[in-house]
Amino acid sequence: MTDWKQKLHIEPPQGWLNDPNGLCFCSGKYHVYFQYAPDSASGGGRKCWGHMESPDLLTWEYTGIVMEPDIPEDRNGVYSGCAVVDKGKLHIFYTGNVKNPGNYDYINEGREANQIHVVTDDPKALSGKNIILRNSDYPDYCSCHVRDPKVWIEDGVWKMVLGARTRDSKGLVLYYEGDGPENFKFVKTYQIPDFGYMWECPDLFFVDGMSFLGLSPQGLEHEEFRNQNVYSSGYFRINDEKLCDFEEFDYGFDFYAPQTFEAPDGRRLLIGWMGIGDIPYTNPTVELGWQHCLTLPRQLTISSDGGIFQNPIDEILNLRSSRLVYAAGQKTEIDLPCDIVIKDTGFSRACFGGLDVTVNDGIAQLKFDENYGWGYGRDVRKVRIGDFKNIRIILDTSSVEIYINGGRYVLSSRFYPDKTVTFECDSQAVIYALGGKPMKLLAIGEALIDFIPDKSGCAFDQVTAFAPKLGGAPANVCGAFSRLTGKSAILTKLGNDPFGDKIIKELGEAGIDTSDVIRTDEANTALAFVSLGEDGNRTFSFYRNPSADMLLKDTELSEEVFEDIFALHFCSVSLGDFPMKDAHRAAINFARAKGAIISFDPNLRFALWKSEDDLRAAVNEFIPKADILKISDEEIGFITGKNDIRDAAEEFFGQGVKLVVYTRGKDGAELMTRKASGQTEGIAVKAVDTTGAGDAYIGSLLWYLKSIGVTSADLPELTADELKEGAAFANRYCAVTITKPGAIPSYPTLQNFKKIYKQEDI
Ligand code: FRU
Repeated sequence: MTDWKQKLHIEPPQGWLNDPNGLCFCSGKYHVYFQYAPDSASGGGRKCWGHMESPDLLTWEYTGIVMEPDIPEDRNGVYSGCAVVDKGKLHIFYTGNVKNPGNYDYINEGREANQIHVVTDDPKALSGKNIILRNSDYPDYCSCHVRDPKVWIEDGVWKMVLGARTRDSKGLVLYYEGDGPENFKFVKTYQIPDFGYMWECPDLFFVDGMSFLGLSPQGLEHEEFRNQNVYSSGYFRINDEKLCDFEEFDYGFDFYAPQTFEAPDGRRLLIGWMGIGDIPYTNPTVELGWQHCLTLPRQLTISSDGGIFQNPIDEILNLRSSRLVYAAGQKTEIDLPCDIVIKDTGFSRACFGGLDVTVNDGIAQLKFDENYGWGYGRDVRKVRIGDFKNIRIILDTSSVEIYINGGRYVLSSRFYPDKTVTFECDSQAVIYALGGKPMKLLAIGEALIDFIPDKSGCAFDQVTAFAPKLGGAPANVCGAFSRLTGKSAILTKLGNDPFGDKIIKELGEAGIDTSDVIRTDEANTALAFVSLGEDGNRTFSFYRNPSADMLLKDTELSEEVFEDIFALHFCSVSLGDFPMKDAHRAAINFARAKGAIISFDPNLRFALWKSEDDLRAAVNEFIPKADILKISDEEIGFITGKNDIRDAAEEFFGQGVKLVVYTRGKDGAELMTRKASGQTEGIAVKAVDTTGAGDAYIGSLLWYLKSIGVTSADLPELTADELKEGAAFANRYCAVTITKPGAIPSYPTLQNFKKIYKQEDI
């Protein structure tokens, strides 16, 4: 038996799924509702809303049916709709479908389309259905087909679009405004001549200030390169209130009824149904009891020609669990799910057994080989793409999503391989395995409060006030990793005091998991007072006699924390003669046993040590335990007694270090393995505050390594290009952070980072 249950995509536990509905972020989680016919894999019976939720858009939990037809106004289906979060409440809007018994055409007669509002505090409990519009409320020229409300709020005004069909079978969108969720007044229509008989699932949305109307029109003429499917789905640009330049979202076999929503970080995300109604092909899972799935979430950005780039959400990069650099012309078996990237502009063919992806003369094509029968009636889909730039293909157990030219063209399709999939390609490719869950960065060491002086350029006794700020290098490294969409957790001990509470709160806000932080009455949370001398150099005065973090014991570490670990990071501040040093030894052993990367940034703090020799000895004891060693031009002489990084690096490699990260402050950085190196020049920026800059460097570099699926075993094999790219990525990230005050507060999200540096540079 073939396992066609998807690993990464939302699909129903059983029965039939169609449109995504009510996409939103609410009460700290992402919510995806979906059109759900739980009683039949072919779509018959009750049409309900099913509900999935996720903390991270990657792992989804099905919580059950949240709405079913239980009032007269939705007795033939709780049809599609949307969600809006306003003042902490979740507002749901959907269409109640009613088919009156009788001899009707069900177009102009016999059908009711009721727009219904539900408001709730709990996304899992939707009750209290209130009818806000009925057929008698729509303009006279509308047929009975009016549905799929999409609502948003702009400057306090509630706005809504509805998909509709006129009595003479023209598709259009009705636009409404109101001062609340139940007071919508019809304002105008959006329509263009001769563009299908019905427009379903409209969605008026904005990307970077540009307005678009997404819709799923039925009845478009099929062409060789366009509208090849039974029903289409795409978007118009809205210019001066006019609909311009319709483009399809997706050119594959299986895509319809997408919906967008805004993520908390401002990204516009889209999820579509990876299926269409009334298709002439089939899905063999029907026999197994379920049918259809949703697409992966896609993030939308604007392309230079004013269209939309759709790319898999960045979060997917966190699932890359291994990488294979594939040489052109080989034949290799691949495990699903996987993520394949091809940047060679000479690319023309990738073959996955029964599925062929080709690019020739500006035309990309997806073709099923009849001899394999993996398409179940699917044959060929084509799209004109102009010059080929790159392609990314994500395969799940029974689907393929192809993003061409940075996501300017996308093709999605189901496919049902009955044996191991082989991959053959005429270009070099990188194949990333996609694991089930994101692997985390774990950092061990101090999380403390830095007291930042109100004045700089003066001695300690001249400072008149200090402001408390979250600090500690391991915490900062986690902060950078999490801001870049990664998962991180910190292992430390904090006092049962208000500063400990503050640290827990702020780490949580930065997306760092603190569930394994231990609290104690034995000592207070560590504090560090900082003054900034005239030369810009920092002097520290630490309150750690001892502080809680120093008291974390090896026996207090739980081995479970080390499940799903990508890397363990530590520094030297916690390597003094106190229990925390043994906790480091134990953590390193646990992490290594899980195959994690061990990363060490000595980050020398002389004020904390009795003697320089003690510090040097501690650092040198831990270097051989590390896979990655970050070392700065200022530290190299002290630690190794050598001034030349090449000599020092040789010594480190001899001790077992696999990657040396050599940072040169404003002069850039170099990444070195035994076999290769890659460097980057410094970036000239106006430095406002360098606090946490080095931590941002290593935190973002670790995330970069994670995003390209690198494991500990891969480190010695990193290519010169990857080293260079990694060095540049971290360098740019670090440069952004020093233009703003503070450590974690100055770290940009991946989304904001991409706005500063063009996508292709990242
Ligand atoms: C689109 C659609 C919507 C409708 C829903 C019913 O696929 O036809 O117009 O609300 O599905 O399931």
